[in-house]
Amino acid sequence: MPTRAWFPTFIYHEPLKKAGLDRFNAELAEECRSLCDHDTAGRRWSAKNYPGGYTSYASLNQLHKFSSTFAGLERKLTAHARKFAAQLDMDLRGRTIVMTDFWVNIMPEHAAHSLHLHPLSFISGTYYVVTPRGCPGLKFEDPRLSKFMAAPPKTAGARPANRLHITYAAKAGHVILFESWLRHEVAANRTKAERISVSFNYNWS
Ligand code: NI
Repeated sequence: MPTRAWFPTFIYHEPLKKAGLDRFNAELAEECRSLCDHDTAGRRWSAKNYPGGYTSYASLNQLHKFSSTFAGLERKLTAHARKFAAQLDMDLRGRTIVMTDFWVNIMPEHAAHSLHLHPLSFISGTYYVVTPRGCPGLKFEDPRLSKFMAAPPKTAGARPANRLHITYAAKAGHVILFESWLRHEVAANRTKAERISVSFNYNWS
């Protein structure tokens, strides 16, 4: 082939662990709902900045330091993040990667999360806790979108790697990791049931 792909954008998607996910997620969902019930400041912040839903992003955003459930989850997620960093050929010899933020997102019917990226970190991700059938996935945008200038539109049958967006279905028990600069969004939840996820950022030193 005369044409080769360079500068790819990698997204990592794996089950958290091999077994015991249902029970683990049931307990984690319970803890997420209880956090929401007790987090008055977070509910107030969410009312302004996360319409229709709840996030502890601005109030309880280091949950791995306060909850044994989240601390255990952090250890598992860090193993996935190291694998992802290795696939990116990042040189972490003699360096450590550190989870800097860890927070909860609860999206009832109609809640949405508009396009954003995660500053001050290098790997970010989400772990899915409760994903009702038909709930929205995580939609990523081609990071070169602002540079296409005069490019014609893509064909209807464009290969996935050549499309301008890719949506990963939200799947309970799965981890999704991406480089923090990659913009993403969650469409409105059109199901009657709430969708629960936890999100996190990593930095290195
Ligand atoms: Ni995000």
